[in-house]
Amino acid sequence: MRVVILGLVAAVCAAAISSASASPNDISGQQVYERACAGCHLSNFGGSVHTPGLVGEDFMSRWRGLTAGDLLRRIAGTMPPAGMNPLQPAEYIAVTQYLLESNGIAAPGSGSPSEAELEGRTIN
Ligand code: HEC
Repeated sequence: MRVVILGLVAAVCAAAISSASASPNDISGQQVYERACAGCHLSNFGGSVHTPGLVGEDFMSRWRGLTAGDLLRRIAGTMPPAGMNPLQPAEYIAVTQYLLESNGIAAPGSGSPSEAELEGRTIN
């Protein structure tokens, strides 16, 4: 009995450790977006009267010439808006990559980049 219980405790601990160290590649930017962003910015990124759209020329005209790192900082620093739960760092990277893919700036399904890679990528 004791051995069984110890085995269970070990299994639970192992599961906790592996989820705490989930790498950015395990996180779906699309899922993060649907959960934390689409309620305001919409699933089709179109936005609304009160919320800017996140694809197309409007978006590109605000971000062209800046880096993907600037976009990451803007999202991580201000989204979701104050009063709502902030995301984990890896989730911010995944959702930024998802926006880049949705704007045709990054290849779809190319995985989560590092922060340094985002810094080095100019939005054009
Ligand atoms: C409660 C509604 C709401 C949620 C949820 C929300 N946003 Fe926003 N977002 C806004 C509003 C309103 C603005 C415009 C005001 C501002 O810039 O703070 C904005 C602005 C932005 C901008 C700047 C747009 C631009 O092109 O300059 C980005 C990028 C953005 N949001 C991304 C996100 C992402 C990614 C998420 C999910 C992690 C998210 N937002 C969640 C309401 C929301």
